Amino acid sequence: MLPLNDLTDIRTSYRLHAVEMSTSPCYHAWASAVAEDPEVLRVLSDLPTLKQQANLVFAAARRHGLEPGPYDDLRALLLGPEWPAVRETILARRTQTNEVARLAALTPALGMLGDGPLALVELGASAGLCLYPDRYDYLWDGAGELRGSGGPTLRIPAVGPVPVPAGMPPITARVGIDLNPLDVTDQEDMSWLLTLIWPGHDERRDRLATAIEVTRAEPPHLLVGDMLDRLDEALELAAASGGTPVVHHSAAAAYLDAQDRAELESRMRTLVAAGRCHWISLEGPRVLPSLAAAVPSPPDADHHFCLAVDGRAVGWFQGHGAALRWDADTARTIG
Ligand SMILES: C[S@@+](CC[C@H](N)C(=O)[O-])C[C@H]1O[C@@H](n2cnc3c(N)ncnc32)[C@H](O)[C@@H]1O
Repeated sequence: MLPLNDLTDIRTSYRLHAVEMSTSPCYHAWASAVAEDPEVLRVLSDLPTLKQQANLVFAAARRHGLEPGPYDDLRALLLGPEWPAVRETILARRTQTNEVARLAALTPALGMLGDGPLALVELGASAGLCLYPDRYDYLWDGAGELRGSGGPTLRIPAVGPVPVPAGMPPITARVGIDLNPLDVTDQEDMSWLLTLIWPGHDERRDRLATAIEVTRAEPPHLLVGDMLDRLDEALELAAASGGTPVVHHSAAAAYLDAQDRAELESRMRTLVAAGRCHWISLEGPRVLPSLAAAVPSPPDADHHFCLAVDGRAVGWFQGHGAALRWDADTARTIG
């Protein structure tokens, strides 16, 4: 456990979490209070660094019965006799938020690849909910709509020349890779996924519950393991299905270290250049910086995930799918 005068890093990260969590008043208040609470910081500093993140700690606390509410209740749980059990949950679980609203960015990007059948491979797929773009209708508020799936509607404010597809191409494969795939048919896994939604984000929670049902009707093919280790195998499965393979990842490359991020980018650029697949990336601006650097206009507070197709940035997205901004002169078919 770190001494009290050596808590600068974790205090700084909780202050940053507090800013990131501004859309959830409860989590914002908890993260702000943790940042100024040396006793709690000291307990959390004893966790492996990757396990210290607020989203994971708060979700684990809620799994142990804590209701969103006053910070003192969280503090009592983290400093009290239940801490070892909460700690076990933190160590056993991961932040695997599976946000199906990200399909509102993926779908126009898929539309840029032509209208032939597509075989999807998702890296860091969690429960694989983002492997079903064809099961939703879309309303890009301000840019257009795509109907006819017979499924629920994903609605998102959109600015710029979003290349709204005329239809959804047939999907011939839905293959995901994850270090720890979550099973849509497993109640415990799905309950954890629902707990990862921040308090106050009721719309996201409802959307997730619906997406779980959509996915349960035809569960995806999920491979257990590291995305770099199993990429070739996943691509072979996809290619064998007859569609054009498309590798996509959202909020997943962020979990790789710098060396693996560079390897991912290099391998994807090589695969795209060889015509083996298309590549759609939706990540924070610092994750694959060479992609973000190529966007004509910079991110802003509402649009901070970089959307890139075949290594070329095309726009920005709010990380959880609350808004889309397409950049001019990129909205053309590249398939
Ligand atoms: C935040 S979730 C995002 C899930 C999904 N892509 C989405 O956008 O909703 C990140 C996922 O990446 C997985 N992950 C992290 N590192 C990985 C790796 N090296 N190989 C495969 N999966 C990984 C995690 O287990 C987690 O399920």
